[in-house]
Amino acid sequence: MVWIWSVATDSTPWILININRFHDVAIDLMQRKNGTYTSPGSWFGSTDYVATVNPINIHYVTTTNFQNYPKGDEYRKIFEVMGYTLFNSDDEEWKQHRRLHASEHNDRVLDMQDVFQRFALDVVCMSVTGHDPESLAINSPNVPFLGALTDFEGGIVYRIAFPELLWKLQLLLGVGPENKLNHALVMKDGFTQITDINDKVFFHDTTLQQLIAGRDTSSSALTWFIWLMVTHPEVEQKIRNEINVKTPGLFPMVSLPFILVVLVYIHEALIESMRLYPPVPFQYKSSRQPDTLPSGHQVHPKTKILIPLYAMARMKSIWGQNCSEFNPERWISDRGTIKHEPSSKYFIFYAGPRSCLGKDSAMTQMKMVAATLVHNFRFELVKGQIIEPDVSMILHVKHGLKVKVHSRWA
Ligand code: HEM
Repeated sequence: MVWIWSVATDSTPWILININRFHDVAIDLMQRKNGTYTSPGSWFGSTDYVATVNPINIHYVTTTNFQNYPKGDEYRKIFEVMGYTLFNSDDEEWKQHRRLHASEHNDRVLDMQDVFQRFALDVVCMSVTGHDPESLAINSPNVPFLGALTDFEGGIVYRIAFPELLWKLQLLLGVGPENKLNHALVMKDGFTQITDINDKVFFHDTTLQQLIAGRDTSSSALTWFIWLMVTHPEVEQKIRNEINVKTPGLFPMVSLPFILVVLVYIHEALIESMRLYPPVPFQYKSSRQPDTLPSGHQVHPKTKILIPLYAMARMKSIWGQNCSEFNPERWISDRGTIKHEPSSKYFIFYAGPRSCLGKDSAMTQMKMVAATLVHNFRFELVKGQIIEPDVSMILHVKHGLKVKVHSRWA
């Protein structure tokens, strides 16, 4: 009786009758047949088949004897609705499709500045509003708000540099940087659509501040970091070595803070990158009372105090003879730990009571992103680009940073 039942349940008709319970039937069959089942014979002209879950068999048909196991004509007929694509072609035809797709995936050209800005926009929106605008999703359209924010940051510089009377006149006439600034102010209202927020006061008070504080600083820092990786392969290699040695087998689980803590060299490379390319490239204050600076310079009331950080990084008197070089080693102390500099010298996160509130979270987030990217990808600069800083309250790369991204594991 058991034998009859076993033969019946092994037969092709039985399996077909139970097709709606395919997964359960397959589990039962594979368990009873020790992982490989051979159909007893053809049925209604249909060919024989062998079902297997045995990894050795799977390796054999997909790899060792690959040539003998095409997808086949049957497969092509079944999937004819797809046309003839990578999935249902074999031999030379398949190779051609494969080359085409591989080049699409491996040699994708991306503007890393745009990528990082989208990433930061999604992170900030989610943390402030709980809504994911998915601007980083593949094939996500242009986000006009991002461009508007960049215009806004650029326009602000002119307000600082030019007398108030002049920029107000420009504003009135709708010309020059003020015109852009005006567009940006209108455009940012469009952001409420992305975030589903209708409370404009909330938007002005919270979201915009978070976006400028969090989106553009981190995305600027990461963009320049990738530029320095492309131009300094020896540093990139040292970062990879450290990841391999200190976190063997753990990557890509980079989101665990205890893993990040042990990655010292990438930390040094990041802070060195921001020293040379400070995300907030200048600071501006004004005086209330007359004063004398420690250098002996007199300050009158309402004097503008400008601190140009980009220039500061390139002062031999502050950072030594090799001040203009990208040299993460300058941050290694005699004891091999990370060297600390006073915040008035490494002024990237400001100093004193108003220093950056998001410094630690920004460093953790940037380390996560930077380590993941350097470990998994190789970046190749698209030729013919001029890489230079924009004049803006954030140190954007003026024309973006276009790179070909290659997976290191493909
Ligand atoms: C690379 C990343 C970052 C850099 C270089 C940076 C730099 C700075 C600088 C220079 C200031 C002083 C600005 C001023 O007063 O004019 C500042 C302030 C501030 N930052 Fe950051 N920041 C970064 C990331 C973040 C992040 C991710 C957040 C939080 C989401 C954040 C939150 C703030 C806040 C709230 C202030 C205002 C502090 C105050 O005025 O009392 N920052 N940051």
